[in-house]
Amino acid sequence: MKPSFRSPLRWSDVTSKADWLNRRQLIAGAAALAATPAMARIEAAASRYSTDEAPNTLEDITSYNNFYEFGTGKDDPAANAGGLTTDPWSIEIGGMVDRPGSYGLGDILAGAPLEERIYRLRCVEAWAMVVPWIGFELGHLLTKAGVQPSAKYVAFETLVRPEEMPGQSSRFIDWPYREGLRLDEAMHPLTILATGLYGEVLPNQNGAPIRLVVPWKYGFKSIKSIVRITLTDMQPQTTWNMLQPQEYGFFANVNPQVDHPRWSQASERRIGSGFFSSRQDTLMFNGYGDEVAGLYAGQDLAADF
Ligand code: MTE
Repeated sequence: MKPSFRSPLRWSDVTSKADWLNRRQLIAGAAALAATPAMARIEAAASRYSTDEAPNTLEDITSYNNFYEFGTGKDDPAANAGGLTTDPWSIEIGGMVDRPGSYGLGDILAGAPLEERIYRLRCVEAWAMVVPWIGFELGHLLTKAGVQPSAKYVAFETLVRPEEMPGQSSRFIDWPYREGLRLDEAMHPLTILATGLYGEVLPNQNGAPIRLVVPWKYGFKSIKSIVRITLTDMQPQTTWNMLQPQEYGFFANVNPQVDHPRWSQASERRIGSGFFSSRQDTLMFNGYGDEVAGLYAGQDLAADF
């Protein structure tokens, strides 16, 4: 059965589609969600935005990470993020909004239409994965806060808490980690805030308790462990662009025709795939061009990289 978009499916209903999850994992996932008050809703609709590609394993997704607040090695986040306190958690929403304030995670999730979104993730370092996120559209939260007509961009910041984030003792990044989107990108239905993956609460190394996922952009745009969202009329400063503006642009759309100055972006290594089949061509907008190319009509994507 192919479920229609936003049908009120229960976890048990998606079992056949999601044959990568066995029944025991589904039950464990539902129990984990129910056990967390903020995520008590265990129903999640399958989405027409999901890819049919097979997701990476939970092991791949939680052991090979970029989260510089916990160190620069791929295995540092899994080793060091366990001690991050993610409850209580709130996001300060401010700038050009009608209802600014500190929103607790419970408030944010109340009424949020959680869905499973199986998305490709393409890192600027030329590796890729497929991740079954649980999340909801960022537009839902922005609408709740009331975006004012003057707003043109959305700025995001990650938590700064050096006592729990050992990587923040290094000064090579000017913390907090920052990211930003143009308002039309932020309101696009593909752009989600994820609070879970594989049917369970988001692991700390993947950006608990709430992180952005923008699947047509390089992974560095998908900022983790968000504590501040600001609506503004000026393009915000973003961490990798601040560090190396010639190498990392504000837009950072996945684009096989625009190489990184130090490596090709034409192909990518699928994490976890076999040695001989591990390289694959990179797709324009990471395969999401039908949905998002229109956002950039008339823009020179080599200049606006
Ligand atoms: N967010 C914060 N706060 N700090 C980071 O170092 N790394 C980014 C992004 N979000 C990063 C971050 C990069 S480079 C990538 S590729 C993705 O997170 C990786 O997400 P994953 O570890 O869940 O696969």
